[in-house]
Amino acid sequence: MRIVSRAAAMQQLALRWKRAGVKIGFVPTMGYLHDGHLSLVREARKRVGKNGIVVVSIYVNPTQFAPTEDLSKYPRDLKRDLKLCRDEGVDVVFTPGDAEMYPGKAEGKYSTYVVEENLGRVMEGAVRPVHFRGVTTVVAKLFNLVLPDVSIFGQKDFQQAAIIKRMVMDLNFPVQIIVAPTRREPDGLAMSSRNKYLDAEQRAQAVILFHALQAAKNAIAKKPVTAARLKKDLQAFLTAAPLARLDYVEFFDPETLQPVAQVKRGAHMALAVYFGKTRLIDNAKL
Ligand code: PAJ
Repeated sequence: MRIVSRAAAMQQLALRWKRAGVKIGFVPTMGYLHDGHLSLVREARKRVGKNGIVVVSIYVNPTQFAPTEDLSKYPRDLKRDLKLCRDEGVDVVFTPGDAEMYPGKAEGKYSTYVVEENLGRVMEGAVRPVHFRGVTTVVAKLFNLVLPDVSIFGQKDFQQAAIIKRMVMDLNFPVQIIVAPTRREPDGLAMSSRNKYLDAEQRAQAVILFHALQAAKNAIAKKPVTAARLKKDLQAFLTAAPLARLDYVEFFDPETLQPVAQVKRGAHMALAVYFGKTRLIDNAKL
């Protein structure tokens, strides 16, 4: 397994594989890898085959964090991540530093960003205003360095995947985007690097996000329910986890991400819930 930290070196390698007709599969991550990330790696391998190249990037991207968010505290363990990648048969781990990804930023010279202007306004984008600009910018840059034929994203971040698909279409990136299912802990909690922040009591209650998705599924199984009614019911439902503080719950069309007034089967639900300072998200098709 190669470990590459220079942007130019990554791009040279990718160009060489491209010219030789070797397929490149790419999984962008911020590290602190768990089985959710590794399921994307397996999907990438499936897509490019044993003669293809699987690249994983590990980069905690500063531009997608607001100044008040958890950038400096974001969990990191490169040694462990590298071992997991090696065990999974990853070919290249790309671990750039900030100076490689955002040259001149410290001196205020870095000035180009990629902004998706529609899907990024709701839900995560409404509560985290600079977040998706940072995500689209770094993913566009990573695509230019890794030159993937296929790139795998997790449904866990449903809105992020939708925005990346839109960006790829709008800006003509020659890459296929695959969205892989959310991997969960045995009790149903979606795997996330941020689960590490939870204390034992919070961790036990955090499964309420998953249960809320299931409760909504059951509530609309027989007939549609208004979004307003469902939101009220879910707020009441969440009081079963006294440490949970609801940030938002939304019901929306999975294509447009626009809210729906009547929630019926096939609609999508997403929610964000605080446990102390830790903010967890989850989503599902109902
Ligand atoms: P990160 O949170 O590290 O996630 C990397 C990828 O893993 C994303 O596509 C995410 O949706 C996926 N993922 C996370 N938890 C998952 C789970 N439980 N099951 C399946 N997939 C899961 O998302 C980011 O990093 C960043 O925004 C990034 C795209 C790397 C840009 O900086």
